[in-house]
Amino acid sequence: MSAVSQNAAREPVKIDSSISYETPHAYYKSLREQCPVAITDIGVFVVLKHRYMDMLLDNANTRQFELEGMMLRGISSGPLYEFYRDVMLFANGDVHKRRRAPMVRTFAYKLMDGVRPRVREIAGEVIEAHRGKGPVNFLDAFSRAIPARIIAEIIGAPPSDWEKFSKWVAAAARGIGFFQNDELPEIDAGVAALGAYVEELLNDRRAAPRDDFLTSYARATASAGDLTENEIRMQMAGVILAGADTTRTGTASVLSQLLQHQDQWALVCEDPDKWKKAAVEEGLRYDPPVGSVPRFTLRELEIEGVVIPEGRVVSMSVLSGLRDPDVYPDPDRFDIRREGIPRWNIAFGGGSHRCLGEALARAEMEESIATIARLAPNIAMIGKPPTIKGAAAIRHIDAMTVEFS
Ligand code: HEM
Repeated sequence: MSAVSQNAAREPVKIDSSISYETPHAYYKSLREQCPVAITDIGVFVVLKHRYMDMLLDNANTRQFELEGMMLRGISSGPLYEFYRDVMLFANGDVHKRRRAPMVRTFAYKLMDGVRPRVREIAGEVIEAHRGKGPVNFLDAFSRAIPARIIAEIIGAPPSDWEKFSKWVAAAARGIGFFQNDELPEIDAGVAALGAYVEELLNDRRAAPRDDFLTSYARATASAGDLTENEIRMQMAGVILAGADTTRTGTASVLSQLLQHQDQWALVCEDPDKWKKAAVEEGLRYDPPVGSVPRFTLRELEIEGVVIPEGRVVSMSVLSGLRDPDVYPDPDRFDIRREGIPRWNIAFGGGSHRCLGEALARAEMEESIATIARLAPNIAMIGKPPTIKGAAAIRHIDAMTVEFS
């Protein structure tokens, strides 16, 4: 990527968004082979090659969306609007730093490794509860339950609350993916309920401090003193929502690929601790839960002759970059034995907004897969494997049924 040169004169390839929704990988492959940059019918530039994703890293070239998404939908008030206005994900510069800083230590790798035994325990409980009982909706019973129960424990919610809490999360999480405006009342209700719940927990810790994450978060935000009450609540809601559908899709996606490649599932079952990391890495590459990461250009940019003007929406197609043959040879092959892959997995984004929950998500997915391999190696997928639809933002997984025997 460079500043514009004299001979920049290449047109981006045109993208048909309706095709890319159902069969994104084959379609993006055909685009990528024509040009490293595509353009949608509404003028969004889509970056297709892995090597240009570093544009994400550079706040001098692009900036994050703020309230533009809400404005385009004509939403100017209400709980979801206030979430977008106050959360770290949709902020830039110092505002973003202030919101992110009090959370960073908690979600650091070392501390998140501490949740692994608990993930194994919960995964074991879920497996035993469903063993021998016939077909199970894997998305609800397992891959939604694990992140919901773990994040509830991290924030110190009473154990009996997780199911109630999980319903609000499921409704509210739709607000950070693609949604129809008629879904807004339900999304708003979910965000409002979650915000009120978090407020209650925070007030409880302020009155009676404990040795837990929420107490230290309440202290960190009180001593910094520069976040509003709603900002404090919305960072909490943000970590809960950002980790819900993404980890649910990620776990299901990894397991479904492994079960469709029984030779590789056999490897994982032989030595779950040896293979769990590689299995998750490859699963996220093969079908990532987040398809793209959008930004605004802050100056005119050029990619192999295609000029992207200043002030335009540019979408880093993580999904396309993860199948870029320059980086992943034979990219349409699912193979947990891949070697020499980049240390930076762009499935978690990059730059200052790089996923805050990566260590937690990895711990949850790796230990989930390892526990299934250990306790239920004969797990069977019933019916057709899940399809992960969409190429942009948080993608949608349709259904996955399994039997634990
Ligand atoms: C497989 C699971 C996950 C995937 C694929 C994923 C992916 C991503 C991506 C691509 C971004 C960058 C968005 C952007 O730059 O616009 C992001 C940001 C974020 N993620 Fe995740 N995520 C996952 C799980 C989690 C979990 C478990 C948490 C909870 C702790 C979490 C919390 C966040 C937060 C708070 C941000 C915003 C960071 C910021 O704006 O500074 N994510 N995630």
